[in-house]
Amino acid sequence: MIPESFIQELLARVDIVDVVGRYVPLKKGGANYMACCPFHSEKTPSFTVSPSKQFYHCFGCGAHGTAIGFVMNYAGLGFVEAVAELAASVGMQVPQSQRDDFKPRIDTTSLTEVMTRAARYYREQLKASDRAKDYLKARGLTGEVAARFGIGYAPDDWRPLAAAFPDYQAKALVECGLVIEGDSGKRYDRFRDRIMFPILDARGNVIGFGGRVLGAGEPKYLNSPETPLFEKGRELYGLPQARSAIRETDTVIVVEGYMDVVALSQHGVDNAVATLGTATTPYHVHKLLRQADRIVFCFDGDHAGRKAAWRALEASLESLADKKSVAFLFLPAEHDPDSYVREHGAEAFRRLAAQAASLSAFVLQRLRARPDLGTHEGKARLMQEAKELLERVKAPQLRAQLAHDVVRLAGQVPSSPREAERLLGLGRLAARPVPFSGNGAPFAAVRAARPAPSPPEKKLLMLVLHHPEFIVRVPHDILSASPASAEMNALKALVDAVEDGSLTVSASLAPIMEHFRATEHQAVLAELITELNENYFDEGTIEALLNDTVDSLRQAQRAQEFEALHKKIAGNTHTPEELLRYRELLSQKQQFKQASTSSDL
Ligand code: UTP
Ligand code: MN
Repeated sequence: MIPESFIQELLARVDIVDVVGRYVPLKKGGANYMACCPFHSEKTPSFTVSPSKQFYHCFGCGAHGTAIGFVMNYAGLGFVEAVAELAASVGMQVPQSQRDDFKPRIDTTSLTEVMTRAARYYREQLKASDRAKDYLKARGLTGEVAARFGIGYAPDDWRPLAAAFPDYQAKALVECGLVIEGDSGKRYDRFRDRIMFPILDARGNVIGFGGRVLGAGEPKYLNSPETPLFEKGRELYGLPQARSAIRETDTVIVVEGYMDVVALSQHGVDNAVATLGTATTPYHVHKLLRQADRIVFCFDGDHAGRKAAWRALEASLESLADKKSVAFLFLPAEHDPDSYVREHGAEAFRRLAAQAASLSAFVLQRLRARPDLGTHEGKARLMQEAKELLERVKAPQLRAQLAHDVVRLAGQVPSSPREAERLLGLGRLAARPVPFSGNGAPFAAVRAARPAPSPPEKKLLMLVLHHPEFIVRVPHDILSASPASAEMNALKALVDAVEDGSLTVSASLAPIMEHFRATEHQAVLAELITELNENYFDEGTIEALLNDTVDSLRQAQRAQEFEALHKKIAGNTHTPEELLRYRELLSQKQQFKQASTSSDL
C-alpha cells in the first residue's frame, strides 16, 4: 500500500501536461492542450489535457484520467509501477508503508537490478562464444537484431552467474529464478548452455528470460518461473521493441515463439509480440487493444495452433468493440512465422496478415464444421453454444451480425439481426458504450447497475467536480436525509474526505479521482467527469446554481418526509413528535403555496 498522502503529494508535484507531453505531441488550444488520442486512432484531435483540472479526456473514445492513470494506460503499467515511475520523474521516493509488514515485501527494485545485471552478463558471454554466435547466424539473425532484443548466451557450466555476482548466495538470485537451490542446499544456475532471450516489461526492465538449447535437447525452451517481477499471463515478449511499429501500423501481430518475434523483426516486420509459452489471456488482449485497433493472431497451421487460436478468440470476446478488429492467420502446416518469413519474405507475410480471417469468419467456420449440424439435437447444441459465446461479446453491431449468421446455420430465418439475438436468448446490450475506466483493472465493474439519478443530486455532484472549492459549502442536512443514490453517496464521501482532511482540494480533479480509485464511488465519478464541459457552469452564476440545487434537494426531501409522515398519521402509528413535525411541514407547505399564488396575482 502506498500511503494516500504520498499519492496526493505526487499529484501536486507532477504536471499532467508534462507527463502526457512526454509521449504525445500536445498543441495548446484555449485553456487546454489537444492531441490526436493515443488510445484510439483518429485524424482530428479529440484528446484534451486540462492543466487546471490535471486531467485528460478524449471526447472520441471516452478515455480519461489523471497523470497516474495516463501512465498506466499508455505504458501498460500497474498502479504501483505508474506511481513509482512518476515519482522518479520528480525525484520523489515511494515510501514503503508500515501497514504492509504482515506480508513481507520483496524489494522488487533489487530484483530488477539483479535481472539487468544478469542480462548484461549473458550479452557479454554471447560476444565471447563463437558457438552461440554461429547458432544465431545459422538462424539468419544479424548482430544488430540480436542487440535490439538483447539476446545473450548462458555458458555451459554449473554456476556461470557466479562470475557476475560475487555473492552467489544472495537470496535475490533465487527469488528472480536465476539460481536453483537443490535439496542439499547446493546452488546452481537455472540457465546453462542456452541462448538467452530477455523478457522486458513495458518500461524496458528485464523481468524474465527464455533460454533455448543450441541444438536438440529437452526442454527446447526453459523459461523463468513466475516471480514477483514476472507474471506470464500479463506479459508479452517483444512489446517494448514493437511499440512504435504497433502505433504506426495500428496493428499488433501475436505469435507463439520468441524466435518468431525476432525473425519477423529481422525481416522488417516489427509489430509482433509473443505470448510466453502460455495461452493468450483476456488481459493480454485488453492490453494490446489499447495500443492498436487490430490484432492479428498468427498461429501454426497444425491442430495445436488451431486450439491456441480458439483460446485466443475466447480471450478476446469481452474486449471486442465495433471499431476494433481481431483476426486469425493460419500459416501453411509446415511453417511458423520464423520459417515463413525467411522463406517467403516480409511482403508475403504482410499480405497474409492483411488477409487474415476475421474473428466472425473463424467462429462461423468452426461452427459450420460441426458434424452434428444435420440433426435437431445438433442444431439445439449449436444454438446453446453460440449463445454462451455471444453473451460475452459487448460490441453491439458485431454481436448482432454474428447472431444472425449463427441462427441461419441452425436452419432458422431471422427477420433481422435483432430478431436473431432474441432467438438465441440474448438480452439487450447497454446502448451506450462503457466508458473507458482508466483504472488499470480491465474488468472492473464500471457499469454496476444503479437506480436512475435524480437530477439535482447529479447536478450538485457535477457542480462540485467542476468547482471542488465548493465541496465545503454543501450543507450537511441535504447529505444526511437524502435517499441513497450513487451520486449522493459519492457526494457524501467527497464531503467527508474533505472535512476529515484526507483530501485537500484545489481546482484540480486529480486528487479526487485518485482518492476514490478502486472504491465504490469511482464509477459514478468517472461517468460524470466524462460529461464535464468547460461551459457547463459559468462562473458568474455558480453561486446561485449551488443555492438553487441545494434548495431543490431540500424540497424533494421534505416532500418525501411529508409523504412518509402522512402515511403514519393516516394509519395512526405516529408518535407525538411526528405529529408536530407533520404540522410544521404542513404549514410550511401552505405558506409556500400562498407565496406562489400571491406572486401569481
Ligand atoms: P515452439 O516449439 O513452436 O518453438 O514453441 P519455436 O518458437 O518454433 O522455436 P524454434 O524456432 O524451434 O527456436 C513456441 C513457444 O513455446 C514456448 C516458448 O515460448 C516458445 O517460444 N516453449 C516451447 C516453451 O516454453 N518450452 C518449450 O520447451 C517449447
Ligand atoms: Mn520456430
